Amino acid sequence: MTTTRATEPLLDRDEVGFLIRAAGTAPSMHNTQPWRFEINGPVIDVILDADRSLPAEDRSGRLILIGLGAATFNLRVAAATLGYDTTFATEPDPDRQDIVTRVFLGSRQTPAPPLARLYGELGRRHTYRGPMTPIRIPATVCQLVVAAARCEGADLSWLSQAGNQRLESILRLADDLDLHDEDRLTEREQWVGGERVVDGVPVEALGSLPTSAAMVRDLSAGFERSDRGTAAFEHQPLIGILTTPGDRPSEWLRAGMALQHALLTATSCDLAASFLNQALEYTQLRSQVQELVGSDIRPQLILRFGFPAEEGTDTPRRSWPQTVTEWH
Ligand SMILES: Cc1cc2nc3c(=O)[nH]c(=O)nc-3n(C[C@H](O)[C@H](O)[C@H](O)COP(=O)(O)O)c2cc1C
Repeated sequence: MTTTRATEPLLDRDEVGFLIRAAGTAPSMHNTQPWRFEINGPVIDVILDADRSLPAEDRSGRLILIGLGAATFNLRVAAATLGYDTTFATEPDPDRQDIVTRVFLGSRQTPAPPLARLYGELGRRHTYRGPMTPIRIPATVCQLVVAAARCEGADLSWLSQAGNQRLESILRLADDLDLHDEDRLTEREQWVGGERVVDGVPVEALGSLPTSAAMVRDLSAGFERSDRGTAAFEHQPLIGILTTPGDRPSEWLRAGMALQHALLTATSCDLAASFLNQALEYTQLRSQVQELVGSDIRPQLILRFGFPAEEGTDTPRRSWPQTVTEWH
């Protein structure tokens, strides 16, 4: 019989690589990948890397925590695939504010816990900024995506045609504010466009430019236009607003978990999604979006879903050992 010495780590190198690579495929604003990980036996801490924050575009730190919530959800999916049931805590250690979530690996199970079925979607999901086909999404598929967000304590509200029109005018106001904010533009240029090999958003991932007004966010904010094709975008996009009951940091983390659960579920149905968050990055415009969803919940993300008409593009990631700073 072989026994594990108390000093040996619970996870071997292959398992750590499996978990951390999966966590690192999470979406993050401008692909900053604002995470690092510490592993101690069955405990994996997800840590905010403040050197990768976006002070101009994410002053409150809300968006960075959403990305960290998404990485936490991926960890749970990968742990389930290794057979581990998981529990987690948000903001687990008052003496270590940088630890935003803590995932506990529980007993190993056969068959693997249900989240394992999403593992295959981690590598297929990417943010898609191009046009969608006119194929309508079945209502049952929309319900699956909503149910996924609800599992994590958030919700997703679909906009009506009138809601889309209202949102479109708010988005235009936000785009205009973006274009006149030097700090934001400087930050954008630092992370978006050109060739990227470890982080940031490469020009190929920016998607086609719309031939007429469309509900998309051109992340390049006016630069990086010459190498990109043009396309006609859908006239009636399917827009969902991800909401949480309140607006505390723990709810931003929850929103990130819900985002990723919803996106992976959508990917499993061959749907693609992109973000229209510009309207939530300005306090006064966020309150206007608030009116679209109701006063008792808080809008966290605006997402456009559909069946993609063009090929999507992967964005780069750092290698997993670069993000693990402790492992016992
Ligand atoms: C909180 C959050 C906000 C985001 N906001 C936007 C956005 O407003 N516009 C956009 O095009 N992409 C947005 N993204 C998508 C990121 O740019 C994308 O996740 C990142 O570049 C990594 O690429 P991937 O999602 O294809 O893996 C956001 C992602 C997160 C997690």
